[in-house]
Amino acid sequence: MSNYHIKNLEEYFQIYRKSVRNPELFWEEIAEEHFVWRKRWNNILSWDFEKPEVKWFEGAQLNITENCIDRHLTKYSDKTAILFEPNSVDEPAQHITYKQLYAQVNKMSNVLKLQGVKKGDRVCIYLPMIPELAYAVLACARIGAIHSVVFAGFSSTALATRINDCDASVVITADGSYRGAKSIDLKSIVDEALNDCPGVKSVLVAERTGGKMNLVSDRDHLLAPLMKGASEECAIEVMDAEDPLFILYTSGSTGKPKGMVHSCAGYMVYTAYTFKNIFQYREDDVYWCTADIGWITGHSYILYGPLANGATTVMFEGVPSYPDYGRFWEVVEKHKITQFYTAPTAIRALAKEPLELVEKYDLSSLKVLGSVGEPINEEAWHWYNNNVGKKESPIVDTWWQTETGGIMISPIPYSTPTKPTFATLPFIGVQPALMDENGKEIKGNQVEGRLCIKFPWPSIARTIWGNHERYRETYFSAYKNMYFTGDGASRDAVGYYRITGRVDDVIIVSGHNLGTAPIEDAINEHQGVAESAIVGFPHDIKGNALFGYVILKEEANSRDQDELRIEINRLISEKIGPIAKLDKIVFVPGLPKTRSGKIMRRILRKIASNDVSNLGDVSTLLNPDVVEQIRKIVGV
Ligand code: WTA
Repeated sequence: MSNYHIKNLEEYFQIYRKSVRNPELFWEEIAEEHFVWRKRWNNILSWDFEKPEVKWFEGAQLNITENCIDRHLTKYSDKTAILFEPNSVDEPAQHITYKQLYAQVNKMSNVLKLQGVKKGDRVCIYLPMIPELAYAVLACARIGAIHSVVFAGFSSTALATRINDCDASVVITADGSYRGAKSIDLKSIVDEALNDCPGVKSVLVAERTGGKMNLVSDRDHLLAPLMKGASEECAIEVMDAEDPLFILYTSGSTGKPKGMVHSCAGYMVYTAYTFKNIFQYREDDVYWCTADIGWITGHSYILYGPLANGATTVMFEGVPSYPDYGRFWEVVEKHKITQFYTAPTAIRALAKEPLELVEKYDLSSLKVLGSVGEPINEEAWHWYNNNVGKKESPIVDTWWQTETGGIMISPIPYSTPTKPTFATLPFIGVQPALMDENGKEIKGNQVEGRLCIKFPWPSIARTIWGNHERYRETYFSAYKNMYFTGDGASRDAVGYYRITGRVDDVIIVSGHNLGTAPIEDAINEHQGVAESAIVGFPHDIKGNALFGYVILKEEANSRDQDELRIEINRLISEKIGPIAKLDKIVFVPGLPKTRSGKIMRRILRKIASNDVSNLGDVSTLLNPDVVEQIRKIVGV
């Protein structure tokens, strides 16, 4: 039996037990047999969740790109590493082989070096899903620069905040991006952001849409001519196991976004190992994850995990609705996709469309279907299973987080029997616990609580960039000696986990995590707004949508409400991005508050969800009458 490739349920249990009984020994064996190291570790694991501090493979040296690219050149030189599927159906797909990937990444590495980028410097990547994005990420990793990819749907303000937080000196972007029938002018968003980013010394611009753009002399450089002149060889920077590999921002329930820091060795080992098993990747498979590389799913399961296994991984530039809602299935047929990994929000959107759009295509190449980002509801699960998987491809409902780096709870396909809406069993090495509100672990089955993890796994984020105290406070202070996920979960009679959703003020809209506080801050910047509160409410396609309760200042009370709504949403788009726009906005005279002044979001959530049967006792509120008034305005 190979511990690296789990083939049935019995093996899963056996390997799981081993991984928990002696985690050090277990991960050492995986690390030793399946990766290239420049120097061996002195110590496999040291950890302390109080400090908190976690170190894996300390003393080891490596470079993740040597593992993701160089070592495959002997066997897979002409194998497709990245299969690029453009937005337009008229543009041919590009098969980028491992040999070509090696050359392009090295060229980009040399370009970055020429810009003065050194080990440890931060490089912000704000690119659409084009091959240059993959090259940029891997080039940073190759020369030891810390990449911070910002999803290209974020606004200039959001981009500036992230650039400044990590003090990036270089930005890599494009003239524009294609999203279905639209094209978006990315460069001018960057230009606007950079008005507030004095630390950025150079901007590298890939040309994709060919739109007009303004190049600032001494700062902006077209990427293509620089790449053309650069050498195809670039030696790796030898990295320490615990050196940071990248920063990726995620929303918190309060304050500015958290720059989660992932390190080189543990992240590599865990993403590679989870990829191999959770997608049961075999040599000739063509794997497709539809996420954007701007999110953790794209980092771990479009780039690093698949490439570390010598896989063929698809990068899709477009959207599921263009040129029509059959696009995903057209791509599956065209490239004979074997593993398909997407988000429940996409599944729900596609399920609303005529079934012919799925049935038209030959999906028989599919072997594994994945879901990630939010709980998948039963209806969507069955639609996916019946119409896409034809009841033959197991669905892996994978639970994890930006902070965990890799998948934590998931079935192993063809081994773990699946159950709709259940992420099922912990992955190898993962030790979950359900906690009650008093900080006690809830043992046994058929229970529900707050989901924590008791023991470190190799790809746990090591800190929040520039704010270790916030890292401690957010993840390690709620429960002693536990990593707290922020999610609620239940465990059924056989020990399967079902994630019930966030228990903090993060709302997941179309799979994107949005903190309520930054949105409220954006709204409150409107001249006419006195105060606001955001809650989530169920939405057929997005999972959750945002509902805003807004108190206007006296002088704005006479203004046209629809106009105000437009202005508020425009502000949110500018400050955060269109993904954070509110579906509903109501103007209210007050917000229900506790005597200590805390907004009772529970009540606001119930009203927004049209579920007022059980509002609880409101008489202890500071302002109990406001509940009735709000109900009248909302009409529930
Ligand atoms: C939620 C995405 C239910 C959860 C990889 C988590 C899920 C947050 C699932 C992290 C799932 C992710 N079932 N909920 N299979 N996967 N979530 O950081 O609330 O973008 O805490 O990472 O998404 O989102 P993030």
